[in-house]
Amino acid sequence: MSVPAAEAVGDLGPVLGIESSCDEMAAAVVDAQAGVLASVVQGQVTVHEPYGGVVPELASRDHLRTVSAVARAALDEARLAPADLGGVAATAGPGLLGSLLVGLSFGKALAHRAGLPMVGVHHLAGHLAAAELSDPALTRPYLGLVVSGGHTALYRIVEEGPAELLGETRDDAVGEAFDKVAKLLGLPYPGGPAVSRLAESGDPEAVTLPRAMQHARHGYDFSYSGLKTAVGLAIRDRAPLDDAGRADLAASFEAAATDVLVRKTRRAAADQGLERVAVVGGVAANARLRREMQRAGERDGLHVSLPPLALCTDNAAMIAAAGARELARGVRHGLDLTAFSRVPFDRNPWAEQS
Ligand code: KG4
Ligand code: ZN
Repeated sequence: MSVPAAEAVGDLGPVLGIESSCDEMAAAVVDAQAGVLASVVQGQVTVHEPYGGVVPELASRDHLRTVSAVARAALDEARLAPADLGGVAATAGPGLLGSLLVGLSFGKALAHRAGLPMVGVHHLAGHLAAAELSDPALTRPYLGLVVSGGHTALYRIVEEGPAELLGETRDDAVGEAFDKVAKLLGLPYPGGPAVSRLAESGDPEAVTLPRAMQHARHGYDFSYSGLKTAVGLAIRDRAPLDDAGRADLAASFEAAATDVLVRKTRRAAADQGLERVAVVGGVAANARLRREMQRAGERDGLHVSLPPLALCTDNAAMIAAAGARELARGVRHGLDLTAFSRVPFDRNPWAEQS
């Protein structure tokens, strides 16, 4: 039986979510009935911009500086005190370990102090919960395409139990490829949105770039390191590039990167007999990917769920929603819950700690 996410969440009251796995410190309050009551995201662009990418130690130091104020801002926005909450959820992995430890430790301390149940959330469960939170028609089972700075994977999301991994990248994540191509094109950090903006004025067919592992014999795995190398070579061959040339390269890269995602998702949905697809993670904010996925959905009769942009990139509403679901199922974690920088999503990593 398929159960809408809103029902599955149960009625334990508002849940505070905390997300700090990378360079965003975020806190949010989500209520099963009322939805998102507050969502605060504090970025660190000015901290990492001079280095052209995220510096892990600087990220965790900045989280330590902001965590308390960000959590308070979310509670204030929701007009709630900790005692009004039904539970606390914090990302426990995967991500940068130092960054994770700040949000998780703060969440554990707050839950302990207020006598609230606490649960650690897998970051990918959070991204998928963003789609369920924003689209009640997205009932399980469904196909989940997770595309972010650290992940590119297709999962079968089942009613109960761990997700089934269908395929994943063998090297770079697609978001990582966007970020690396941004650097090659001399665009500022963060790279993905910058490439996407530049691509708007370019011709996606101007430069022929490889679409790796797109054929059925490669299963559902992805590869992005060859595409990044091909863009590097194309830049070298065409130097010096004018603005139009850079825009054409950005558009051609974006087309190659997203075409493979659409093609594999269509095939996986058909092979798996799944009628609903969720596209989640930071790269799900990409306008071309959203447009092409929707088109594919119309062609194939698929229900394609795309979270609103603010719920695609890292945020805490998705962590609160995923945590609320776990808490409603009776999952509780103790003060000994620890964080993991790498942790697979297709088995329950924290089972022994619950
Ligand atoms: O989910 P997310 O916020 O953090 C991770 O869990 O990694 O995803 C961040 C990634 C970055 O690689 C960023 O460049 C990419 O998502 N991204 C985009 C866009 N917005 C963010 N990539 C392409 N187009 C976008 N509009
Ligand atoms: Zn993420």
